[in-house]
Amino acid sequence: MNLLVDDIGELVTNDPARDGLIGVVRDAAVLVEDGRIAWIGRAADAPAADRRIDADGAAVLPGFVDSHAHLVFAGDRAAEFAARMTGERYTGGGIRTTVSATRAASDDELRGTVHRLRREALRQGTTTIEIKSGYGLSVRHEARSLRIAREVTDETTFLGAHVVPAEYADRPDDYVGLVCGPMLRAALPYARWVDVFCERGAFDADHTRAILTVGQAAGLGVRVHANQLGPGPGVQLAVELGAASADHCTHLSDADVEALAGSETVATLLPGAEFSTRSPYPDARRLLDAGVTVALATDCNPGSSYTSSMPFCIALAVREMGMSPAEAVWAATAGGARALRRTDVGVLRPGARADLVILDAPSHLHLAYRPGVPLISEVLHNGVPQCL
Ligand code: NIG
Ligand code: FE
Repeated sequence: MNLLVDDIGELVTNDPARDGLIGVVRDAAVLVEDGRIAWIGRAADAPAADRRIDADGAAVLPGFVDSHAHLVFAGDRAAEFAARMTGERYTGGGIRTTVSATRAASDDELRGTVHRLRREALRQGTTTIEIKSGYGLSVRHEARSLRIAREVTDETTFLGAHVVPAEYADRPDDYVGLVCGPMLRAALPYARWVDVFCERGAFDADHTRAILTVGQAAGLGVRVHANQLGPGPGVQLAVELGAASADHCTHLSDADVEALAGSETVATLLPGAEFSTRSPYPDARRLLDAGVTVALATDCNPGSSYTSSMPFCIALAVREMGMSPAEAVWAATAGGARALRRTDVGVLRPGARADLVILDAPSHLHLAYRPGVPLISEVLHNGVPQCL
């Protein structure tokens, strides 16, 4: 059984072998077979297929790759958000509120939230998603969070070092010992990545290096929450350790930008967090002009960014961060794939996974031009049309 997506007005491929940053093909068709892309070309040259979807002249893009999300939690923090909108500052202090609620929740409650948010993201075009632990902060609860995250994605990240939990407030070194030992061991069967919130009030450079190094030695890939709330050592550490991604990157020195530019570490920008914390947005233009690879992701979590919408992040990046629509679309697809060190997603070319989004619009420009409008009309995941 193969499937032809036909009559595509504008196909965004991100294939470097094609023209421009996002490799647009006009009047195109895509043949899908066994969950992969079998052929891409002009609609006029399309082969016959068992099944056909008519895109009716609309734009088709690779599915979004959301490389940063925290979906395993209980409760919400709407009141904290409301307080921020009338002048309170975001400090990350609310993380412990979510930790208490998450520990008190049953497996089924957590599972319900993760599956609901995964579905919500899919409806907005996200076909690959990374999910972190980080609201359990005990051996049992971190392993449980990752086990549940694993039900919906292989891109799972151990974030036992999100903050020091209340019961370890007076002995952070002991908590780091727990994270590096028993907690990491319990997380390993379910995790692909290790991450640390490297920030004043969370984990300093020594703790961050210790945790990431031991995680890396155990076979996990490295990512870092870096330079979100103020300047700090996170970005330099990410580069030093060969991290796949340094996330947030809101407060960067020239040396941070230079380090990123000369590295394989992607700068993952999370504009939903600045929107929801009323903070200045990261300067994407400065990073792009320096040659840094930039990804966009949602950071979906109940505290700093309760959105699962990649189109919303694209619109913010274009309006507030100096990215062109094409750069933002690339960052939300190919950029996310780079941040997860994946070559099979974020791109449409023969052999890639058949993860496609059909827009209810003639061009990718509409993702920023029509903010807040549900423009995703169809999603194919592994070649299978999803019931949205
Ligand atoms: O990426 N900054 C650290 N972690 C999350 C926020 C978590 C929360 O406030 O609950 C983030 O923004
Ligand atoms: Fe985050």
